[in-house]
Amino acid sequence: MTPSPTQPAYPPVSERFARPDWPNNAWYAAAWDVEVKHALLPRMIAGRRIVLFRRTDGVPAALNDACWHRLLPLSQGRLDGDAVVCGYHGLRYDSHGRCVHMPSQDTINPAARVPALPVVERHRFVWVWPGDPALADPALVPDLHWNHDPAWAADGRTIPVACNYKLVLDNLMDLTHETFVHGSTIGQAAVAEAPFTTTHGPNMVQVARWMIGIEPPPFWGNQLQRQLGRPVGLVDRWQIIRFEAPCTITIDVGVAVTGTGAPEGDRSQGVNGFVLNTITPETETTCLYHWAFARNYRLTEQSLTTELREGVAGIFREDEIILEAQQKAIDANSGKTFYNINIDAGAVWARQLIDRLVDREQPSKVAAE
Ligand code: FES
Ligand SMILES: [Fe+2]
Repeated sequence: MTPSPTQPAYPPVSERFARPDWPNNAWYAAAWDVEVKHALLPRMIAGRRIVLFRRTDGVPAALNDACWHRLLPLSQGRLDGDAVVCGYHGLRYDSHGRCVHMPSQDTINPAARVPALPVVERHRFVWVWPGDPALADPALVPDLHWNHDPAWAADGRTIPVACNYKLVLDNLMDLTHETFVHGSTIGQAAVAEAPFTTTHGPNMVQVARWMIGIEPPPFWGNQLQRQLGRPVGLVDRWQIIRFEAPCTITIDVGVAVTGTGAPEGDRSQGVNGFVLNTITPETETTCLYHWAFARNYRLTEQSLTTELREGVAGIFREDEIILEAQQKAIDANSGKTFYNINIDAGAVWARQLIDRLVDREQPSKVAAE
């Protein structure tokens, strides 16, 4: 697909905020599993303030972060067993948000509750569903199995980024930017020169790029040389980016000795990684960028896991600087639109799929259905 060079992808501020910027009926990664402890953890997820905690049986729970009584954030209170105790007048809520104790009275107003959000713990993340709880099907959690699959070694982090979550999606759907933003590690001219193919389905977009017979960039050349135990010459390099609406992107990346059959499926003379990304909108101009890097070689070397995590963190720091500067420029240029060129094909499709999900939740559409 070749998008029209005049088609705007980023609407002016007035239009941007006239409708929700994200679908509510979706699973959003709220935190890494290890971050959710038997303690109150406030988060902003899809415009909603929530408080996360782990019950005494280990099951995670999420409530609106506002007391039914006078709206004090519950995250400023405390956990007592499985009960959340408000830090102002001591109302107690169970993990489903039902008030179970009021001070100085025996009866409890049956309406006294705070909304609870559906929660699922999967792929080392705790996911919440801010929309209609009746639609919260755990089967819809995006597949990030590489993050815990024993055939892979993975680790990652969360970056709070002061930009709209779709800017991160744009960034990941087109890796041409590696040439210019990540020149010292994974970037090389071949990325910006190689052709790519874009395919899409009802809920996914894929952008695939193969670079055949090229010099490996420093990061990948180093990985392959250490894996094979000998110097390497030219390689075949691949980047297969897969977007799953509304905000998850996995990228199958790697290099193999050229001519050993990697494009046909034989990656035995190569090294392979998966970059796992799920970007949770907080507000229209901030997001939580959860990422991990998984590899399928030298699995037991924890030092390599740490080295790779730190290396990728450095690379993503370069993205963060660009993305925050881009958001500032958008804010300073109200009404200015984006223009699309060929490299934006994947991002344009991803944004269309998000728009479709948001449209489906508009009151007129819901009423019609
Ligand atoms: S505001 Fe929470 S108990 Fe009063
Ligand atoms: Fe990047």
